[in-house]
Amino acid sequence: MPKLHINVDHIATIRQARLTTEPDPVYAALMAEQAGADGITIHLREDRRHIQDRDLALCRQMVQTRLNLEMAATDQMTEIALNQKPDICTLVPEKREEVTTEGGLDVKAAQEKLRQIMPALKKAGIRVSLFIDPEKEQIDLAAQLGADDVELHTGEYANATGPAELSQLVRLAQAASYAHGLGLQVNAGHGLTYFNVTPVAAIPEVAELNIGHSIISRATYVGIDQAVREMITLLAKARA
Ligand code: PXP
Repeated sequence: MPKLHINVDHIATIRQARLTTEPDPVYAALMAEQAGADGITIHLREDRRHIQDRDLALCRQMVQTRLNLEMAATDQMTEIALNQKPDICTLVPEKREEVTTEGGLDVKAAQEKLRQIMPALKKAGIRVSLFIDPEKEQIDLAAQLGADDVELHTGEYANATGPAELSQLVRLAQAASYAHGLGLQVNAGHGLTYFNVTPVAAIPEVAELNIGHSIISRATYVGIDQAVREMITLLAKARA
C-alpha cells in the first residue's frame, strides 16, 4: 500500500489564527506518527502563514519517521533546508495571494533555478521531489534534472465531477506509469479526502500520498489518532 505522509500545516493554521502556542503542529506530528503515519509533511511558506521556522526546527529534532519539507524553489528556502536537513524537500510553486498551492511547478520555466538548487540539496543527502501536474513534459524535465521523486498534483482530479473525474484519474494513472518507467518514485497529493482517495491509492506505481486538510479536518471531530488510522485502513483496502 502507498505510504502515508500527513501534512500538519493546518494545525498551525489554527494556532496562527490567535498567534498563540496551541495547537502545536509538532505535537500533532508525533501523534500522527504514533497512529502509523509513514512521514510528516510541512510547508514553510515564504509568508509564514501557518508553519513557522520553529516548527521546522522542532519537527527535525522530533520526527522519527521521515520529514518532508515543502518549499518554494528560492535561495532563501534552500539555505533553510540545508541547515535543517529534512529527509525530503518537495519543491512547489508559491504565490502569496493563493489560498493553497494552485498548480504544479512549471519545471520548464523554473529549470534554471532548479539546476542550482537541486544538486545542492541532493549533495546534502536530501531527497528531492518536484510537485508537478501529471504531464509528460513535466515528468521528462523532472527526470532530466535528476529529481528523485515526482509528486503528482491530484487537485484537478479532486475537483472534477462526473466523467471528468474518470478522465483525470486515467491521466494520473498514465503519468504515474510513465514517471515510474523513467525511474522516478511517484508520489501524489493535494485535495485528497476519505471519499476520493481510494482510486488514487490503487494506482500501483503510487508510492506515497501527502494528505493534509481532510485528515486534519476529520481530526477536529475524532482526534488525530483515529483520523490517521481511518485513512490508513482506506489505503490498505485500496491495494487489497
Ligand atoms: N502536496 C503538496 C505539494 C501540497 O502543497 C499540499 C498542500 O499543502 C498537499 C500535498 C496536501 O494537500 P491537502 O491539504 O489538500 O491534502
